[in-house]
Amino acid sequence: MSNLALYGGKPVRAARLSYGHQYIDRDDIQAVTEVLKSDFLTCGPKVSELETALCSLTGAAHCTAVSNGTAALHVACLAAGIGPGDEVITTPITFAASSNAILYCGGTPVFADVDSKTYTINPETIERCVTERTKAIIAVDFTGAPCDYNGIRAVCEKHRLLLIEDAAHSIGTAYRGTPVGSIADLTTFSFHPVKTITAGEGGAVLTNDDTLAKRVELFARHGITRDPALLQAQGNSNWYYEQQMLGYNYRMTDIQCALALSQLKKLDRFAARRKELVRRYDEAFKEIPEVIVQTEVEGSDTVRHLYILRLKLDRLNCGRKEFYDAMQAENIGVNVHYIPVYWFPYYQSLGYRKGLCSNAEAYYESSMTLPLFYGMTDEDQDDVIRAVKKLVEYFRN
Ligand SMILES: Cc1ncc(COP(=O)(O)O)c(C=O)c1O
Repeated sequence: MSNLALYGGKPVRAARLSYGHQYIDRDDIQAVTEVLKSDFLTCGPKVSELETALCSLTGAAHCTAVSNGTAALHVACLAAGIGPGDEVITTPITFAASSNAILYCGGTPVFADVDSKTYTINPETIERCVTERTKAIIAVDFTGAPCDYNGIRAVCEKHRLLLIEDAAHSIGTAYRGTPVGSIADLTTFSFHPVKTITAGEGGAVLTNDDTLAKRVELFARHGITRDPALLQAQGNSNWYYEQQMLGYNYRMTDIQCALALSQLKKLDRFAARRKELVRRYDEAFKEIPEVIVQTEVEGSDTVRHLYILRLKLDRLNCGRKEFYDAMQAENIGVNVHYIPVYWFPYYQSLGYRKGLCSNAEAYYESSMTLPLFYGMTDEDQDDVIRAVKKLVEYFRN
């Protein structure tokens, strides 16, 4: 009889290990509690404190905290002036929010294929998608690893495109010495609980461009300004403000900002541990010819949010689903990131068709996300590695 837990054998571990988990300590709880006892639950001092902290972390000149990473992408697209008739090139291997933001503005997402080793869009596949209607690129730092930004920048300069970096996965990462947040024209963060830094919900938009920064701020705050330099009419009373465009209430609360600030203080620790876990996985898997690990572009200094294992299915007598189910049965909470966005029924209803991006689809069919989070112990990780080895041995051709 098989020793696989899927077929009745003993699982590698007794308790289930999830693929990601937030790390909350006493300092975080105290930081949130202090805000709850203060005068400001929202629109208070913690918001600008967080914005300042994110600017000093990334070197960006401007930061606007917003309610989540999706709102960050939406206001980034609005600030970029994306509207009906504009095409925006992005990746299909991402959470739907990256391309939904384009649709919110009436623009058209154009999916470039990913590189088969880095799983991110690259200058060649982007270049193939550029038309006279292309206005911007939304590059996604999938798993936390940066894209080839030197190459992508060159494409942007050649065709006068704006670069938006969806950095929901990549806080703390740097590319050729430049921190994420200072690379693109606009960068967006998410502070969802599975991310490296959490605020429960939260996000931010960063830029070095003064004009874009003002537009981001306006769109995220109802289109309302009190800035005397921006007012169109004379306002000589301090109650005076103006709505100048149609914006949104995308405020992040002081409660969330306090949590994010407290988490940010631990970023170095979080980053070091994530890097160590990635090193241990890479080391273990390089001995196994049936699996592939992600390659990073030259010049990456990555804080990994996700760890992806790809199966060489031609060397295994199982499909990804059976491998995935067998890992779950071993009590290893694997996941899959991501289903190509244009495969979803909604995108199909817009006219996108399967077969559009062959590398992305091949990647999806063979990939699996392994547990990776700060609070994971070496023993937890050893269980994951043992489970992968156990399954590969069983399913090996
Ligand atoms: C790549 C990517 N972009 C955008 C988002 C949206 O972030 P949020 O969940 O904070 O709205 C996510 C979140 O999962 C993401 O993974």
